[in-house]
Amino acid sequence: MKLFDVYPINPINIVRGQGSLVYDAHDTEYLDMYGGHAVISIGHTHPNYVKRLEDQLHKLGFYSNSIEIPIQKELAQKLGKVSGKEDYQLFLCNSGAEANENALKLASFYNGKKKVIAFSKSFHGRTSLAVAVTDNPKIVAPINETDNVIFLPWADEAALEEAFKNNEITSVIIEGIQGVGGIQVAPEGFLQKIRSLCDEYNAVFIADSVQCGYGRTGKFFSHDFAGVNADIYSMAKGMGNGFPVGGIIISPKIQPVYGMLGTTFGGNHLACAAGLAVLETMEQDNLLQNAAEVGGYLIKELNKLEQVKEVRGRGLMIGIELPEELAHARKELLNKHHIFTGEAKPNVIRLLPALNLTKAHADRFLEAFVNVLNQ
Ligand SMILES: Cc1ncc(COP(=O)(O)O)c(C=O)c1O
Repeated sequence: MKLFDVYPINPINIVRGQGSLVYDAHDTEYLDMYGGHAVISIGHTHPNYVKRLEDQLHKLGFYSNSIEIPIQKELAQKLGKVSGKEDYQLFLCNSGAEANENALKLASFYNGKKKVIAFSKSFHGRTSLAVAVTDNPKIVAPINETDNVIFLPWADEAALEEAFKNNEITSVIIEGIQGVGGIQVAPEGFLQKIRSLCDEYNAVFIADSVQCGYGRTGKFFSHDFAGVNADIYSMAKGMGNGFPVGGIIISPKIQPVYGMLGTTFGGNHLACAAGLAVLETMEQDNLLQNAAEVGGYLIKELNKLEQVKEVRGRGLMIGIELPEELAHARKELLNKHHIFTGEAKPNVIRLLPALNLTKAHADRFLEAFVNVLNQ
């Protein structure tokens, strides 16, 4: 059997990793400034992570959500503490798309309405509702098309006010920093406007934090910079440091009903062990602070480079926009300097490394990047 060939891949076989370094089958070392697509939050094979998962695997890998699973409660408690949203409720699932799917559905259960506001260049995942609120017609199949989604221009307050006027809006879904859309930071005033309109019209504010959340920006949720609380935050990626875990946290104003949401695998023992290892390590090693400091340093240094068109982002979620003639830079970083980065079209390099990236590794990246720009 062949693989279903949907990914354009680099011909590199990464076989092991430690911290922000990974190694291929020939033992060539690579610096991972991509974090396997913003997934590796506490570094590859972190000892706390390996131990937590190993210990749990020896005890119990899985049993269903029909029994008590104390490690889920432990995870919820720790997440409440580290994120500062202690009065929220946690629903666990398996991926970012599934988290958004549940968020959108729950919002509609809550207020009985159907129309969702999403924004240009948004990316929220590939399952049916998640892809319907994603602004990329190429990945929306005919069966996903719906007139329940209203796409608005990014950060346009007047368009937002107008869209609310018929009082049909169930929810607004927005990334605090658009990832796939090219690292665009949502203006704080715009997030505050969403909050006030959602309050006025009983709509649900969904903060997609799958890529920009979980401490990456130096605050737990990037939406926190606006000083407002969303009603639902969706999470995945860094939550499990590579173990597939997703979830939503839900404000106390939305109350659960048995059976309204559900999943077979979500919240399984191993996933919770991975999630706890991540949060414990974030706390112990002050990773939010490290993300803010090392990310701030990278942004400051990148802003000094005159070939760079624009540097966007916060903490360790950074977009470097390059002019057309430097479009080859990302490939050269990989092929010549053995540094993984991400991309966003057109010509944006995305940095999404582990939150414990060291300053020395940041300098190693900067040196290679300057070299690529100047050759
Ligand atoms: C902002 C955002 N939301 C949702 C998703 C979907 O997550 P997953 O691929 O885990 O379904 C992604 C993935 O890149 C994302 O960046």
